Parts: sequence; structure tokens; C-alpha cells
Amino acid sequence: MQLGLIGYPIAHSLSPWIHHRLLTMHGIEGEYSLYECNPEQFPDQMEQLKGSKINGFNVTVPYKEKIIPYLDELDEAAKFLGAVNTVKSDNGRLIGYNTDGRGYAASLLNQYDDALKSSDKVLILGSGGAARGIFYALLKHGVKKINVANRTVEKAQRVIEDLQAHSTSSALTLQQAEEDLSQYDLIIQTTSVGMAPEKNRTLISLTGINANTIVSDIVYRPKKTSLLKEAERQGARLHYGHGMLLNQAILAFEIWSGKSTAASRIMTAFEEKLK
Ligand code: ATR
Repeated sequence: MQLGLIGYPIAHSLSPWIHHRLLTMHGIEGEYSLYECNPEQFPDQMEQLKGSKINGFNVTVPYKEKIIPYLDELDEAAKFLGAVNTVKSDNGRLIGYNTDGRGYAASLLNQYDDALKSSDKVLILGSGGAARGIFYALLKHGVKKINVANRTVEKAQRVIEDLQAHSTSSALTLQQAEEDLSQYDLIIQTTSVGMAPEKNRTLISLTGINANTIVSDIVYRPKKTSLLKEAERQGARLHYGHGMLLNQAILAFEIWSGKSTAASRIMTAFEEKLK
């Protein structure tokens, strides 16, 4: 199988490691190549990929939205979110998918099988593409009460409107979110705060959360972010970010190859690789 990744910059991506491992695990001969291209090279690179023998590829920053005009078809999630992270090529006919949100939900459920009950109340911190993908996946799991807090509250409002959730969800400022944290079963941090150069910052303080609350951070470097350290001090349950990365890749591989993989088969090696 010919697979790959398009984005810029991508030299440090972990996707080649994951997909080579999956290819080997399933006994499939193949290659996962990096197609790093700057925005000027992107149209030519897409033409080249369309005419090539590639079976599928991942899409990352800054092309998750820009790739859409080049695709022939979109799955429901990609259509709804207006963003694609996985493309399957059917003899040059390109189909776009988005496995980010589903990858997050799978990762969470692998660790906590009581998570994502329809009665759960969730707080999402941030309003970028990752927040949208996760919001969409939670709705698909039947969760209804999902509040979104963001530095720019108008952006949080837009997420809720776009996902047609205004009857059950509220947009909050970060300060408003902080004031009433005890109501949440799950708090999900979706921004880059917690990663270098903002390693020592947290978007909100977690004072007042429930011991049973799951605090989840999609940042995976460092593994235990400042927010997760604070959650641990509060006695909350923790969910780390690397599981989402692994599970979105496993779901992409399944789209290309038809082969499903339990994340537990690769998790220990992946955690070792991340160290
Ligand atoms: P992605 O698509 O990767 O999720 P994005 O679209 O760049 O990322 O969105 C980044 C999110 O992180 C936004 O919610 C952003 O807040 P604003 O909408 O107010 O810009 C949030 N974010 C990034 N850096 C931040 C910081 N230093 N403080 C607070 N929020 C931050």
C-alpha cells in the first residue's frame, strides 16, 4: 500500500512510525511517505498525488480545510466540520474523512468505559478545529450538554451555532467556566496551551472540580501537562493526549486497508516512542 502525509511542517510527525507499525502488524507491504510542501507548492503536489498510485494519505496543518476543493467526495464528519484529516484514493477518485473526533472518543472510552453517557455534562476549552471535531464526536455519542469556553467567546458561540447545539449548550468566557466547575463529568482541553512555549500555563484553574470528573488534555508533549498535574492534585481522573493521536491514525488505517486494530496492541510501544 502506498500511504503518506501532506502538511507543512511535518518532519517531526509521529504518523510514519504509527503507520509503518500498523502495516507490519497486518502483514501488508507498503510505505508511508512524507509530502511536505509549502502553500505555493500545494496545488502541484495535489495534482501529483491525484495522478499517482497512492492508496490514501493523511492531511495536517495547514491543509485540513484547503484540501476540500481537490476532493471528489466527503464523509459526513468532514462535510459537517469542513475539515479533512484522511483521504482515500479510489483510482484517483479522492474521498475525504475526518477521524480526529472519533479518535478522541475511542481513546477516552478505551480508558474509561463509563465516559460519554448521554446524561454527562462536558466542558470543552478552546474553539479551534480540534474542539469542533471533538464536539461533533460527543454529539454522535449522544452527549447533549456540552459547554464551550474560549478566550474569544464569540468563537465558542460560533462552534455551538455551527453544530446546532444552542438549545443545550452555552458559550462561556474562561472566567465564567472557572466559576462553576463542579457540574462537569468531563473537561477537555483542546488548545496548544500546556505545550512549549506555554508549558507552565493552564487556561483555567481547576479549583472546585469533582473527584469523579475526568480531565482530558489533547496536548501529548509533555504527557502530563500543567492542567493534568493540577487535576491530579485535585484527585480527578486523568486522560492523556497521546491516545487521540494513536486512535485517529488507527481509524485512518482502517479506512485505507479495511483492517481494524485494538489500540492496546500498539500503545506500550507508542508510549516508549514518545519518551
Ligand atoms: P486547532 O485547529 O489546532 O484546534 P486553532 O484553530 O488555531 O487550532 O485554535 C486554537 C484555539 O486555542 C483557539 O480556541 C484559541 O483561542 P482564540 O479563539 O481566543 O484565539 C486557543 N488558544 C491558543 N493559544 C491561546 C492562548 N495563549 N490563550 C488562550 N487561548 C489560546
